Amino acid sequence: MTIDIRQITPVFAGEVSGIDLTRSLTREEVAAIEAGMDQYAVLVFRDQHLTDDTQRAFTRNFGDLESSPGGHIATATERRLPLDMQDASNLDKDQKPLARDDRRRMFNLGNRLWHSDSSYRAIPAKFSLLSGRIVVDRGGHTEFADMRAAYDALDNATKTEIEDLVCEHSLMFSRGLLGFTELSDAERSMFRPVRQRLVRTHPVTGRKSLFLSAHAGSIVGWPIPEARAFLRDLSEHATQPQFVYSHKWQQWDLVIWDNRQTMHRVTRFDETQVRDMRRTTVRGDTVTVAQAA
Ligand SMILES: [Fe+2]
Repeated sequence: MTIDIRQITPVFAGEVSGIDLTRSLTREEVAAIEAGMDQYAVLVFRDQHLTDDTQRAFTRNFGDLESSPGGHIATATERRLPLDMQDASNLDKDQKPLARDDRRRMFNLGNRLWHSDSSYRAIPAKFSLLSGRIVVDRGGHTEFADMRAAYDALDNATKTEIEDLVCEHSLMFSRGLLGFTELSDAERSMFRPVRQRLVRTHPVTGRKSLFLSAHAGSIVGWPIPEARAFLRDLSEHATQPQFVYSHKWQQWDLVIWDNRQTMHRVTRFDETQVRDMRRTTVRGDTVTVAQAA
């Protein structure tokens, strides 16, 4: 069989058929998927019965795995999954849904806000790969927004104004938006802000995109309220329905997205139900701008 990609929305996202990701792929197959990612920015694969090991092996085709330290308040002993897999479930180590007021669950609620994975790291992530091991039948969709189409739709004056702007990103900013502000000194130092360009250029296609994220909490050189109001304007622009694809999960879906070209969020669901989603992340290879000394 050969790989076929059918575009899902008028601007981006593709559904891929004709490939089994649980076996090792040929160089041509990997190149076809990578080219599909460059073009569509989100790819959906149905019916991929991945284990943690086959998911890792598939992910390594696109670069090194990002490891989790610095990305969560859960301690090493609380983790359900190893450090090279990000736990996008609502479960504790005993596979039970976290209590409503569990601090880890409240931290995870930040995923309901539009964001780009690891934009709070000096070197932000390339791809995220999310495997639906146990899905819920109502809600819990993952929504994606195309930051290239959103950039293209800006007027020229705005494009010129934002071209060289630099934002500061931190998990403290995104969690603060939801009123989750109680952090220890160690967590605050782990979540210290990093700098990211607001406009990125894709290394292969040369397309420009908005590098927005709920983690962005300031613009270097701007008063904070003015920066936050403007970032909110840009996010509202960038997440209009014409730029969005909403993925309704089936068990054994694998969805890959390019964090350099998209934002995403999860929608609300009944958290007394088990939802087991496991993410691997391909590390980025460069900073978007020099960090503050
Ligand atoms: Fe995410």
